[in-house]
Amino acid sequence: MIVLGVESSCDETGLALYDTQRGLLAHALYSQIAMHQEYGGVVPELASRDHIQRTIPLLEQVLRESAIERSAIDAIAYTQGPGLAGALLVGASVACGLGLALDRPVLGVHHLEGHLLSPLLSKTPPAFPFVALLISGGHTQLMRVDGVGRYELLGETLDDAAGEAFDKSAKLLGLGYPGGPAISRLAEFGDPGAYDLPRPMLHSKDLNFSFSGLKTAVLTVVKNHTANICEQDKANVARAFVDAIVDVLVAKCLKALKQTGLKRLVIAGGVGANRQLRDALNDAAVKRRFEVFYPELEFCTDNGAMIAFAGAMRLQVHPEAARRDYAFNVRPRWPLHELRPN
Ligand code: KG4
Ligand code: ZN
Repeated sequence: MIVLGVESSCDETGLALYDTQRGLLAHALYSQIAMHQEYGGVVPELASRDHIQRTIPLLEQVLRESAIERSAIDAIAYTQGPGLAGALLVGASVACGLGLALDRPVLGVHHLEGHLLSPLLSKTPPAFPFVALLISGGHTQLMRVDGVGRYELLGETLDDAAGEAFDKSAKLLGLGYPGGPAISRLAEFGDPGAYDLPRPMLHSKDLNFSFSGLKTAVLTVVKNHTANICEQDKANVARAFVDAIVDVLVAKCLKALKQTGLKRLVIAGGVGANRQLRDALNDAAVKRRFEVFYPELEFCTDNGAMIAFAGAMRLQVHPEAARRDYAFNVRPRWPLHELRPN
C-alpha cells in the first residue's frame, strides 16, 4: 500500500510517499522560516497562503522522485490537527480534493502521533513499548507508548512548551527565529559557570514540566544589564538556559523510565534535534543502561514523511479508519488523549 502524507500544520509544507512494502519512497519539504523571520515568529495568514503555493509542486516532486503515477497512490493521509487552522485547511483540502479526484480513501492524522512514530522511520527503530518524550514548539509531553494508537500520558508542561521556551528566550537575547537552533549554537561558546538559572519542577514528584519561569529568569538577567548585553554574556546566558532545560528534560525522562520500568526512551519533535540534549541523554543511557532512540535529524522537525508513515500504520491496523466522504474539518486544538486507538 502506498500512502501519500501531507503536512501543513505550521510553517513547513511537507509531502511524502510511504510504501508499506518498500518503506519511504520520497519526501519533500519547504520551510517558510525565511519568510516569517522578519516578523520574529510565524504569521498564520502568510503561512496559509504559502502552503497553497507549495503543496502541488511538492506533490509533483515526490511523484517524480518515486517514479510513480498519481494513480499508484492507495490512500492519502493529512495532518488534521493540532496546528494553525488556516494552514491545516490547505493540506486538508488538497488531500481530500485529491482523494475525490483519484477515488482513493483519505485519513486525518494527529500531528503529534506523526512525531511520536517518527523514530520508527529510522534505520534502527525502537520496539514497543517505550517511553516517549515529545518536545516540539507547542507541546512537551511524556508518554508511555505500547503500540500504534496506544498512548498513555505520563506528564506534560503546565505552561510553556520546551520549544516555546527556546524560542522566547532566544528572542529576549535578540537571536533570530526559530530560536532553538540559534540559542543552542550560541550556548557552545558560553561559560557554564557564569549564570545559574532555575530548573523548574526538577524535584517535583510528578512527571510534569514548567518552563515559563525559566524564560522569565532569562528576561531578568537581560534586564539587569544596564548597558547592552555583550556577545560573550549572551553566550553565557544561552549556555545557562540550555544547561537548565536539558537538566530538567533528562531528569524527567529518567523518572519516567523508573516509574514505568521500561528500558527504551524515544525522543520526538523539533527540540529533539538539540545537540546538548542528545549528548546528555546518550551519557545517561550508558550510565543507567537504557536505550535511547531519535528520529533522523530531518524528521525531528515537521515533515510529510511522519504523516505518511502514521497514516500507513493506522490503515494497516484499522483499514476501516479510511474515509471516502471527502468532507473535511480540521482540529486546531486536539489533545492526543482524545485520539482513539483505531
Ligand atoms: O516539531 P516542530 O518542528 O514543530 C512543532 O510541531 O511545534 O518543533 C519546532 C520547535 C521550535 O520551537 C524550534 O525552536 C525547536 O523545535 N527546535 C530546536 C532545535 N531545532 C528546532 N530547539 C532546540 N535545539 C534545536 N536544535
Ligand atoms: Zn511538529
